[in-house]
Amino acid sequence: MSVVETANSGVEHRIRRAQRAVVQPVLSWYDAHARDLPWRRTGTSAWAVLVSEVMLQQTPVTRVEPAWREWLTRWPTPAALAGAVPGDAVRAWGTLGYPRRALRLHQAATLVTREHGGELPQTVAALRRLPGVGSYTAAAVASFAFGQRHAVLDTNVRRVLSRIFTGSEHPPPSGPSVAERGLAEAVLPARDSVAARWAVAAMELGALVCTARAPACGRCPVATACAWRVAGMPGYAGPPRRGQTYEGTDRQARGRILAALRRSERPVSAAALAAAWPDPAQHARAIDGLLTDQLIEQVGDHFRLPGG
Ligand code: ADE
Repeated sequence: MSVVETANSGVEHRIRRAQRAVVQPVLSWYDAHARDLPWRRTGTSAWAVLVSEVMLQQTPVTRVEPAWREWLTRWPTPAALAGAVPGDAVRAWGTLGYPRRALRLHQAATLVTREHGGELPQTVAALRRLPGVGSYTAAAVASFAFGQRHAVLDTNVRRVLSRIFTGSEHPPPSGPSVAERGLAEAVLPARDSVAARWAVAAMELGALVCTARAPACGRCPVATACAWRVAGMPGYAGPPRRGQTYEGTDRQARGRILAALRRSERPVSAAALAAAWPDPAQHARAIDGLLTDQLIEQVGDHFRLPGG
């Protein structure tokens, strides 16, 4: 055996051992402690799973749950949403934040209806071609809705893998690296159904126990196998991590303007809309951005949500 082969088989051996030490305990922990979230229930449609994943991309579970129920009551299929005007989707998005996601879901529903006979495609490649679906969301839907074997790397899973296997408190702020993907693939259980369960179990561990700021290692099923913990939980030494400030940002100005349009049944005059945000320069920038993103439309000197 060459030196490289020996080294590789050493890594494989370590990963196989880690798999045994980590995967089964995390699966058992999930069976006992997982939240009963509605989109995880058997019988949830692939469309409903996609909607949940898009909403959860940037919004906490507690805020997503009621919005998800309302959305699916109103638009239980892609064809139902495709039959609405985009402005209805933006209105129904409410205060979930990052409202371009509502437009993308509407576009995805239109594409699914036109090109896939109203059924979500099942491969990661075809899912990725839908607007608003990146590699995380495609893998999540393929795994959670269709029971396939994929590395599903959201921030929670990346943190869990980083702590357990690489001994670092946080993964790199830019995004999943080739090395992280390689590790996530190597750890994936062989059977599709077990891999899909591992994906959601690792995510849940990151959400409930192995949290970013206050990890509850006393409740962690794999604390003794965790490289970060074994190393004495060293402080994060990587590149700066992104903050999530909102107060006073252009994003908040955009949110206020959209909220004013959502509240109104009719187009709102530019003068009335000016009251939504105190700083005129920032207000103008926010309006420009919303027009560019097609989240609002201008009709004369009035504004409205797209399609009325
Ligand atoms: N269950 C399935 N996907 C999820 C997600 N993105 N966040 C929280 N729980 C989930």
